[in-house]
Amino acid sequence: MVERPYTILSCGISLDGYLDAATPERLVLSNEADLDRVEEVRADCDAILVGAATVRNDNPRLLVRKAALRQLRRTRGQHETPMKVTVTERARLDPCSNFFVTGDSEKLVYCASRSVPIARARLGAVATVVDGGEPVDVPLLAEGLYDRGVRRLLVEGGGRVHTQFLTADLADELHLVMAPFFVGNSRAHRFVGDGAFPWNPGRRAPLAETRQIGDVVLLRYALSSRFAATT
Ligand SMILES: NC(=O)c1ccc[n+]([C@@H]2O[C@H](COP(=O)([O-])OP(=O)(O)OC[C@H]3O[C@@H](n4cnc5c(N)ncnc54)[C@H](OP(=O)(O)O)[C@@H]3O)[C@@H](O)[C@H]2O)c1
Repeated sequence: MVERPYTILSCGISLDGYLDAATPERLVLSNEADLDRVEEVRADCDAILVGAATVRNDNPRLLVRKAALRQLRRTRGQHETPMKVTVTERARLDPCSNFFVTGDSEKLVYCASRSVPIARARLGAVATVVDGGEPVDVPLLAEGLYDRGVRRLLVEGGGRVHTQFLTADLADELHLVMAPFFVGNSRAHRFVGDGAFPWNPGRRAPLAETRQIGDVVLLRYALSSRFAATT
């Protein structure tokens, strides 16, 4: 049987379903209390994955900042920060971006075959570049992460990455945080793009939890039979 990590998809969206605002500035959808919650989810995972556009646009650190959570990870024999993983077709990534220069864990770049030489030249000093196929085959990526010891994976966007994990039925849980405002600009990125999703009008996703966190709301969906085993 093919093994893959237990996979949680996580993101914040506006009331009209956007991930960002189509502006160069990062859009703040979450609030402090929710960021604390996300930190706890991160601390429980072996790896965090984001798409290359998110690395470029948001320049995220993807760290566990709370000392108590880092200590907890150390006592479990883990790095303070989960492994960081990104996926790219063109390898247009800056080796000085926060993704690569922060955190004590390994960084992996799953790269489309044709861009592997350029990725190794550009990023080889700061990350392990893996040939992921043409384009990167996301189910194989998930298996590859499992083979590297990743048992719990947190996917933090953006939309292209979420779309592929959902349409390939690779997600066990979805954490959707809804912010109390509209973006109102169709040039912004939506939570997901077009695709054949396993969850549709004929097959509704089980809602496992709703939680108000200050002015945002967390919707937690159970997307596989593995969900029950973890709760
Ligand atoms: N609200 C939130 O919680 C949240 C979270 C994360 C991101 N965001 C926002 O989402 C926006 C980015 O979303 P997005 O959908 O444009 O991008 P994304 O999913 O972050 O990244 C897309 C990029 O990843 C690479 N990629 C994805 N799948 C691939 C595959 N199978 N093979 C090879 N490469 C692949 C390509 O990189 P290359 O272009 O390098 O070839 C592609 O352009 C950002 O503006 C960010 O602010 C919001």
